[in-house]
Amino acid sequence: MLELMLNDQIVQIDYAKPDSMLLEYLREQQGLTGTKEGCASGDCGACTVVMVDTDADNELRYRQINACITPLNALHGKQIITVEHLSQHGVMHPVQQAVVERHGTQCGFCTPGIVMSLYALCKQKQAPDNPADYLAGNLCRCTGYGPLIEAAQHIAQVEIFDPAQQSEQALKAWLNQCDEQQTVNYLKPKTRQQLAVAKQQLPEAKLLCGATDLALDVTQQLNTIPQIIDLSEVDDLLTISETKSGWRIGAAVPLTQVHTLMKTHFPSTNEVLERLGSLTIRNRASLGGSLGHASPIGDIAPLLISLNGKIEVDDGTDKILYAPEDYITGYRETQLKPNQWISAVHIPRLAPNQKHAIYKVSKRYEDDISTVVLALNLTLDSEQRVKHCILSAGGIAAKSVRLTELENLFIGRPFTQLLVQKVKAVVPEVIHPLSDVRGSAEYRVQLVQNLLQRFYLECHQISTRLAEHA
Ligand SMILES: Cc1cc2nc3c(=O)[nH]c(=O)nc-3n(C[C@H](O)[C@H](O)[C@H](O)COP(=O)(O)OP(=O)(O)OC[C@H]3O[C@@H](n4cnc5c(N)ncnc54)[C@H](O)[C@@H]3O)c2cc1C
Ligand code: FES
Ligand code: FES
Repeated sequence: MLELMLNDQIVQIDYAKPDSMLLEYLREQQGLTGTKEGCASGDCGACTVVMVDTDADNELRYRQINACITPLNALHGKQIITVEHLSQHGVMHPVQQAVVERHGTQCGFCTPGIVMSLYALCKQKQAPDNPADYLAGNLCRCTGYGPLIEAAQHIAQVEIFDPAQQSEQALKAWLNQCDEQQTVNYLKPKTRQQLAVAKQQLPEAKLLCGATDLALDVTQQLNTIPQIIDLSEVDDLLTISETKSGWRIGAAVPLTQVHTLMKTHFPSTNEVLERLGSLTIRNRASLGGSLGHASPIGDIAPLLISLNGKIEVDDGTDKILYAPEDYITGYRETQLKPNQWISAVHIPRLAPNQKHAIYKVSKRYEDDISTVVLALNLTLDSEQRVKHCILSAGGIAAKSVRLTELENLFIGRPFTQLLVQKVKAVVPEVIHPLSDVRGSAEYRVQLVQNLLQRFYLECHQISTRLAEHA
């Protein structure tokens, strides 16, 4: 039995197949056809709805999600708000009004999804730095984004009275009282021990966290997933803790939260995390999911390699740490044994003399998979010689890689333009990427060379600026 609050109604569902998605339920079972299906793969945002739950401080948390790739069973004990709930008594909601006043809709297919992303924006207690981020997961093919970005900026600036808001107290009480989910073939453990038991109970089950990768097996490949263990509520996988050497980040912490932490302590990672999918994707996606599917074009593995991070793997009894480059063994292959899961990643602090950068090149700025990711982490000694070097990349081999041959060319030598030229010249001998829809092999080689050059120029500019101010 599964229970959720749909708009202002509590609904109970006797049984939902582990791989049934919310979109299908809304449109086909509930007749809520305002939520549209465009791509069924998390790309277009036509299916955007808002999920409500409480955070660690028991504050209500409103996050936009893609209904097309969210399993219905993942929503036990949560509220889902659809576009039908916004206008009350035939009067448009202020976020709808903001879109209409700026002529932000034409054919209207994208509009419900856009309105729901703007609704999530209007529910944030603190205005975001860039309100347009809330629209990064919504494609509009006819209106153009100018009026929509203006609507987002307006919504972020003014205080909005939300006619759809229920009593906060009653909503929190319901969200906090919901019984544990009892669904055969969809287990949702809350602790490390319960997860170990769940693994014994359903040894063939697929692990799932945000489902932003796994759900595509169902919606794009038309496969079925008969058994699922949902990791999104396991306490050990949800904590972020500061350790002596750095941070331990739980494998199920949503990437939105990971992004907030990382941009504070590792500002060089901000852009790549801001461009990982969209806010809608990052609200559900996790580090464990990214390392779990080990895609050669995923952004997290090269990032983690470059920061000298480690992957923590658990079986309920012992935890083992792996370097990501050792953990990922081949194309979507890892060291993970059937009784194990990824519980966290560990990231050490950067020292002041470490220069770190990560660059992502993709066809579209936001919500697009990388053609190439290159990450660099150089430690220079007092004479500007390279003392230590990590170079990692995605999109150039069957797995995310550490480019040790190139690293060795840097180590012990002065970090100069001449050295960078020499390393660039060796790149075609060291990497042998594939050609595909995202770019030819030659283009990828050229990207790695150009990004090495960019890194040098950026470091050089920073040093020059520091010297000028000294
Ligand atoms: C529209 C769209 C855009 C995207 N853009 C990007 C992008 O720009 N960059 C990028 O890197 N990725 C991108 N992705 C891929 C994906 O969103 C991320 O890799 C995400 O981090 C996956 O996390 P998840 O929790 O949703 O994984 P899930 O789908 O829940 O799981 C993915 C896989 O990992 C396994 N798994 C999950 N958690 C664990 C765990 N703790 N231990 C072991 N195995 C586990 C699952 O069994 C499954 O095989 C995009 C996806 C979509 C749909
Ligand atoms: S239908 Fe396109 S993101 Fe869901
Ligand atoms: S109004 Fe037609 S796709 Fe946006």
